[in-house]
Amino acid sequence: MAKFRIGVLTGGGDTPSLNATLYGIALAAEELGGEVIGFRRGWAGALYPDKKYEVVDKKDGKEERKPLDDVTGEYVFLTPNDVNPSQGGSIILSSRTNLTKIPGSLDDLAKRLKELGISYFLPIGGDDTTTVTLTVTKEGILPNVKIMAVPKTIDNDNGIIGPDGIFDGFEKMTNIWTPGFPTSVSNGRVFSNFTYSTAFTHERVMWNEAMGRKAGFLSLGMGYLGLADIILVPEDPVHIEDICKRTLEVYKQKGFFYGVVSEGVINAGTGKPIAEDPTIVDTFGHAKLGGAAKLITEATKEYFKKHNVHVPYYTAHVPEYMYRGGPPTSLDRLTAYNLGYSALTSLLEYTHNNGHMAVLLWDHVGAVTSTMPLEKAVMIKDGKIVPRQVPIDKENPEKGFYDPTTKNITGLGREYIDLLDIKNIEFIPWQGEIYK
Ligand code: F6P
Repeated sequence: MAKFRIGVLTGGGDTPSLNATLYGIALAAEELGGEVIGFRRGWAGALYPDKKYEVVDKKDGKEERKPLDDVTGEYVFLTPNDVNPSQGGSIILSSRTNLTKIPGSLDDLAKRLKELGISYFLPIGGDDTTTVTLTVTKEGILPNVKIMAVPKTIDNDNGIIGPDGIFDGFEKMTNIWTPGFPTSVSNGRVFSNFTYSTAFTHERVMWNEAMGRKAGFLSLGMGYLGLADIILVPEDPVHIEDICKRTLEVYKQKGFFYGVVSEGVINAGTGKPIAEDPTIVDTFGHAKLGGAAKLITEATKEYFKKHNVHVPYYTAHVPEYMYRGGPPTSLDRLTAYNLGYSALTSLLEYTHNNGHMAVLLWDHVGAVTSTMPLEKAVMIKDGKIVPRQVPIDKENPEKGFYDPTTKNITGLGREYIDLLDIKNIEFIPWQGEIYK
């Protein structure tokens, strides 16, 4: 008979290291005499099965009601034997269920966790899933349950770049990287390398589109490691004509061109993403992105024609979900496993860690697992987690990771991405101050 029960879920876009986090939690639970319930399909799993829920939203000032599509109420018991930490995706599935828009769902969550005898709860997710965790925590929805947010995201945007959102050394970042990010950079590097060789050999213009709604960390990593001539990130709005001009300059100089563009890159004229589909919006209010590489490639083609420069072929690649697919790199697996393991052990050991996020810090010699109150670990605005972004310093570009003038990575940015290449990284359990 288990001494206590832990609830877990995985929400938002999948990553290659979600199962490694689940494995860390399941192992810690087993060692400490607990039992893990994994809710299937993110927050939807924690609701009642077969109950008809509605999503209530505002559209053009009017209230809009839709039935909740996600299948609710399913869960499984998880032991370390059930989870393969080297397998990508999440064995307990995922969804983008926004409880804050489903009337009655927060009360149902409380009732259900009580009925299931859950006293510890670890939602694993990015900014949206963690925003729901924040609401649950701040509104005292689960007074008898200890909660710890556990980060994940290939976008590397769940954390802060430094105090007040300003970069002040790797040691001040939470999280130094998020589980999922190391593998997406590694996958992106492969796509970059595959593209580069053809661009070079066949004297072509080739663009790869990277995932990353608000943050360009993935573009930066794969662009740097894949020798991109230009990297476009959502943090630096662009004029398409200017990008075409730069592309032509590089082409004339080198005889080929390879560029990386974030799906979320902003048009400086409109202030909106250059390619989004406003008719497909998720319950967190995000419009579907995609098409940035194609748009820029088409514009480049026209521009080159106008300037009488012949290029045999123009290509826009969109590897899309492949960035988040496949098995985790060993760094990613270890990051996720250590964060999962320490999230549960520290929540059990220090009860004042309730409402914290499990975080990965950098302390010169290695990556340190710790926990912090959510409001210290991430930036919060209007009750929502604000995704962290690539630091840019227009006055002193070398103080940021990205230079908007060269449209490429800086020395500091390279140092940052190079951290992911460290071999035999040591994960150190936190031994300093515990935040209350
Ligand atoms: O947050 C991770 C992410 O992969 C983003 O980079 C991307 O914009 C989004 O998820 C796409 O998610 P989906 O198409 O699965 O809703």
